[in-house]
Amino acid sequence: MLRFLIVALAIATVSVVTAQVPPEKQFKVVNNNEFGDYITEYDASYRFITSPNASFFTRPFQLLFYNTTPSAYVLALRVGLRSEESLMRWIWDANRNNPVGENATLSLGRNGNLVLAESNGQAKWQTNTANKGVTGFEILPNGNIVLHDKNGKFVWQSFDHPTDTLLTGQSLKVNGANKLVSRKSDMDGSDGPYSMVLDNKGLTMYVNKTGQPLVYGGWPNHDFRGTVTFAVRREFDNLTEPSAYELLLEPAPQPTTTTNPGNNRRLLQSRPIGSGDGTLNLNKINYNGTISYLRLGSDGSLKAFSWFDPATYLTWEESFSFFSTYFVRQCGLPSFCGDYGYCDRGMCVACPTPKGLLGWSDQCSPPKATQFCSGGKGKAVNYYKIVGVEHFTGPYVNDGQGPTSVNDCKAKCDRDCKCLGYFYKEKDKKCLLAPLLGTLIKDANTSSVAYIKY
Ligand SMILES: *[C@@H]1O[C@H](CO)[C@@H](O)[C@H](O)[C@H]1NC(C)=O
Ligand SMILES: *[C@@H]1O[C@H](CO)[C@@H](O)[C@H](O)[C@H]1NC(C)=O
Ligand SMILES: *[C@@H]1O[C@H](CO)[C@@H](O)[C@H](O)[C@H]1NC(C)=O
Ligand SMILES: *[C@@H]1O[C@H](CO)[C@@H](O)[C@H](O)[C@H]1NC(C)=O
Ligand SMILES: *[C@@H]1O[C@H](CO)[C@@H](O)[C@H](O)[C@H]1NC(C)=O
Ligand SMILES: *[C@@H]1O[C@H](CO)[C@@H](O)[C@H](O)[C@H]1NC(C)=O
Repeated sequence: MLRFLIVALAIATVSVVTAQVPPEKQFKVVNNNEFGDYITEYDASYRFITSPNASFFTRPFQLLFYNTTPSAYVLALRVGLRSEESLMRWIWDANRNNPVGENATLSLGRNGNLVLAESNGQAKWQTNTANKGVTGFEILPNGNIVLHDKNGKFVWQSFDHPTDTLLTGQSLKVNGANKLVSRKSDMDGSDGPYSMVLDNKGLTMYVNKTGQPLVYGGWPNHDFRGTVTFAVRREFDNLTEPSAYELLLEPAPQPTTTTNPGNNRRLLQSRPIGSGDGTLNLNKINYNGTISYLRLGSDGSLKAFSWFDPATYLTWEESFSFFSTYFVRQCGLPSFCGDYGYCDRGMCVACPTPKGLLGWSDQCSPPKATQFCSGGKGKAVNYYKIVGVEHFTGPYVNDGQGPTSVNDCKAKCDRDCKCLGYFYKEKDKKCLLAPLLGTLIKDANTSSVAYIKY
């Protein structure tokens, strides 16, 4: 009887213990292979990882290490095939702000925690899934890297941890991973100044170079009902007929409500892209573009790229660009003219200076806040005037505050050493202070003026 009880107790105990990763699914791979031969995005070098116990390749996605500077490696997912002579792209980083060195290890042990550690064992990135029932690792055909339990349920998935890119089927959520953040540059993959954030008001693109995030794009007045998914769908669902595909930003699938398209992009938007039930139709492509991604670039651009499987070369195509003749004018991209420039119909036509509009080059630079903020007590501030100009944030903030007089607008900018200049609508008496200049948009209306400090 006692023996029976002990056995029963033992069985009960075992069934309570969470499932574990079986030995044949465990792995530990080391960052020390030969470098690969092909050219990849950012001109990065890369190293394969292999294990008899796991596959790190699910066509056309591959998990590997890459580096753009010596001995600073990022574990990342790449998309594209070597045979295609088309640039392979990096679409997800595990440790972009925390690179690892030579001989770093990626391991999945019995407890189910996926850990990236330096060669001395110091963990640099992990999924925090120890003892949560993980039984295996997999890269799914849609590019989602998952740790699943014995029922196939995802305990952790890379889709919940986007960096600067959304793959088809991937979402941003108000109550979850709610943003994309750009990389600093091709060379530097750590968090950059641009972000695209979902909240209950909409999906908004911000540039944060001055400590004060400024809106420069997105759909800030569009109700996505808490979730926005980047989706690619066949135009018609019948199986035999070929059909076009649509690139979409879909809100959460809930009762239809009428959404407010917003009226604050009058100057920039050249084409409406809304469609029924709040879905935004970004573009139509005439082939199966199920493998696509949407990326917030290091220059602040928002672009989609689509992969055409049957092509033998140049398999990637730019299938959407937020700042383009197709949608919102290129001049609306704050970095379009580099640090500074006057932009007209997609061209940087002039460099504004106290001497007037001079020829533009990428050396064109705005005044620096440090000029006005460092000890400048009593120092007189001068302004030069530009006629027919709009600030990139104007369409999103209703041209600023007002009605107010031009003198009050100037006085505010005088007092604020971080104000590099002010934009003023002479007719509406609207006042916009600019802590960041970048690309200035030409406005045919000569009553839109700016006064820039020097
Ligand atoms: C791979 O699986 C085998 C069993 O098939 C196991 O003995 C081995 O320890 C595993 N390798 C690693 C690195 O865990
Ligand atoms: C990496 O490990 C290999 C093999 O253990 C060793 O020969 C090499 O020196 C290590 N490299 C570094 C930079 O530690
Ligand atoms: C903007 O940048 C500053 C300085 O880098 C940072 O402290 C702040 O948290 C950022 N704000 C947002 C909303 O990202
Ligand atoms: C496919 O669907 C479209 C739209 O519903 C319809 O017009 C077309 O006839 C369908 N084709 C076939 C072969 O069913
Ligand atoms: C489109 O491509 C995806 C991914 O390659 C594939 O799974 C799907 O079956 C394709 N759809 C059609 C209708 O061929
Ligand atoms: C300039 O803008 C103002 C107010 O926004 C408007 O009343 C006026 O008609 C515009 N002028 C021209 C020439 O478009």
